[in-house]
Amino acid sequence: MSVQSNIESELKATKDRMPVRIMDFEIDPKLVRDALPELFPGYGISMTLPYLEPYLVRTMREALKHCTDPVVAQEVRQFIGQEAQHYRQHAVLNDMIRSISPELEGLREIEDQLEADYQRFTQTKSLKFNLAYAEGFEAATFAGGRANFRNHVFDRLETIQNTDLLRLFIWHALEEVEHSTVTFNIYDHLYGDYLYRLVAGTYGQYHFFKYVFLFSKFIAQNAPQAIEQGRALWPSKNLLGDWKEQLSLLGAISKVYLPGYNPAKMEIPENVAQYSKSYAEQARDIRVMVAR
Ligand SMILES: [Fe+2]
Ligand SMILES: [Fe+2]
Repeated sequence: MSVQSNIESELKATKDRMPVRIMDFEIDPKLVRDALPELFPGYGISMTLPYLEPYLVRTMREALKHCTDPVVAQEVRQFIGQEAQHYRQHAVLNDMIRSISPELEGLREIEDQLEADYQRFTQTKSLKFNLAYAEGFEAATFAGGRANFRNHVFDRLETIQNTDLLRLFIWHALEEVEHSTVTFNIYDHLYGDYLYRLVAGTYGQYHFFKYVFLFSKFIAQNAPQAIEQGRALWPSKNLLGDWKEQLSLLGAISKVYLPGYNPAKMEIPENVAQYSKSYAEQARDIRVMVAR
């Protein structure tokens, strides 16, 4: 096979591996309210995404300008396409979460702080920092996404079985697993500096999870169900699993700090391929990302 046709087939494989699915979800606002006690840490993550994911997209668009490897560049374009769909869908869900009660409108204050942080990072931090942050976040969600599929967490969420709210979470977790190598590869291509990635990526994880905690805590204290019972909600085991699952997730996240870490070497749970196929079939459209 010639070098040119080899690259062509790698580009095609990249597009097939990370399809940009355009999804239609019809989520019932009443279900968002009723499922809150079981799902609220997931809602805490959702609240970050309309700020985090546009920041990742801005970072990756900047990185594209410096990328000289056509396959890595196509990976970055597929990543941008997938992330741009994620935050649009989560913004709709977040409007429903805030609308549950007047108290939850107070989430906007934390959202404003987070958006200010990400705008500041784009404007004042280096591309190297922003890419290392992106990889810190992606490595953590990849570990979390794998654990969700391996432990069949989506099957345990009793309040949302067979609903579009569940499909939203599965679709997003699935695409996070599919594009898990992208931020690692572009950082490696442009910088390859392990120690810097370690420090800035760890800061990124701390920064992101601090906001997930702030959002989740706010929801736990201000949800109508919490106000009715006079105390904050406590996370459900259906979502977070038992101590063994939590320990194994911590172990998986700690592996990303090792010098030899490469997401391409991680084992993908068997059921992911079936979800990939099924969600591609459910998509209204599959968008093709092209070089501009
Ligand atoms: Fe995403
Ligand atoms: Fe992602």
